[in-house]
Amino acid sequence: MTEQPRPRVLIVGAGAMGLVTGYILTLGGSDVTFLVRPHRAEILSRPQLLYSFDDHQLKIYKDYKFITDPAKMIGANYDYILITLDGHVLKSETGVNLVKTMGEAVRGTKTRVLIGTVFIDLRPWFLETSGINGEQVTTCQLIIHSYEPKNVTCRLHEGTDPKLLQQADQAYTDKLGVGFFADDSGPAVAEGFAKLYNASGLSKCDIVSPEQLAAMSVPNFPLLAVSDLLGWPDYEDVDPNGELWTLAVDSVKDIQGLKLLGQAGQKMIESTTAEGLKNQFVGIQKAMLPMDWPDFNRYHHGGKVNVQDQELLQTCIAYGEAEGKAMSATKELLRRVQAKHQ
Ligand SMILES: *[C@@H]1O[C@H](CO)[C@@H](O)[C@H](O)[C@H]1NC(C)=O
Ligand SMILES: *[C@@H]1O[C@H](CO)[C@@H](O)[C@H](O)[C@H]1NC(C)=O
Repeated sequence: MTEQPRPRVLIVGAGAMGLVTGYILTLGGSDVTFLVRPHRAEILSRPQLLYSFDDHQLKIYKDYKFITDPAKMIGANYDYILITLDGHVLKSETGVNLVKTMGEAVRGTKTRVLIGTVFIDLRPWFLETSGINGEQVTTCQLIIHSYEPKNVTCRLHEGTDPKLLQQADQAYTDKLGVGFFADDSGPAVAEGFAKLYNASGLSKCDIVSPEQLAAMSVPNFPLLAVSDLLGWPDYEDVDPNGELWTLAVDSVKDIQGLKLLGQAGQKMIESTTAEGLKNQFVGIQKAMLPMDWPDFNRYHHGGKVNVQDQELLQTCIAYGEAEGKAMSATKELLRRVQAKHQ
């Protein structure tokens, strides 16, 4: 019997999304390499400790490689490259140069690329900047939530092992059923990657349309923005008829109406209510326990990716205006978030 070679996956970025996805792929038999900036190399030189809120064990992750020079992508012929950088970073000068180098590495090869960056309509921009063939590229999103317990204190809930949590580089939970979504803008990419991901037996990857993927994530951004303005409350305590929540609900509907979300978004508008969105967030908060979702969001969306979130709302406004929509609720919400973070 000849042994199958392990699929080779390059993950760009070893933050929350990169490390956890890498761990899952490695469990499934993939040969994972991280591309990180030089200052991250020291951290990756020792095993990474991952705390799971699902079984309260500390996992030792050390079966990976890393590189720090993007030029090393050229000629390496990875089977997959997964980009996990923030939208803000990806669109920066460094990000653009990285995408161009990736283009050089991938054009004319069989390498497939997944864009895991949370943003709007990144694929056309990526194809244009990289020159990579569309069949080789798809968009995806990690649903697993992960944070660095060393950098952030979240409220502890029953079941958590505080001693193990304290030692961890990342702490994650995979309680929402599906851990990873890939869209079928590049069907072969999505299908192949889902196999590698599912092979872990630990978490599941589902494939959806680009509109569905957008409809699942983009309308949450006004709700994260209003949560920021409300000081990251327990969702049970939110007044669905309060002025801010009402503003956010109107913004959600603005966004659901964007062409980018297609039929999936249009359908959602009809059933979107203030009470319904509150209940949805109460439900997610409960499902995530014992990870504290409001505290997770305070850290992530209140700080780490706040600039990206603002850019995302800004982009929604621009798309809406191009479609002849006023987007007034989204504009007002963004104005208030900007005033808070000035
Ligand atoms: C975590 O904290 C350390 C030290 O404050 C900092 O250098 C590092 O960038 C932080 N990591 C992230 C992803 O914010
Ligand atoms: C991965 O698992 C999901 C959830 O069970 C399933 O729907 C999907 O078909 C699987 N994908 C592949 C390619 O095996």
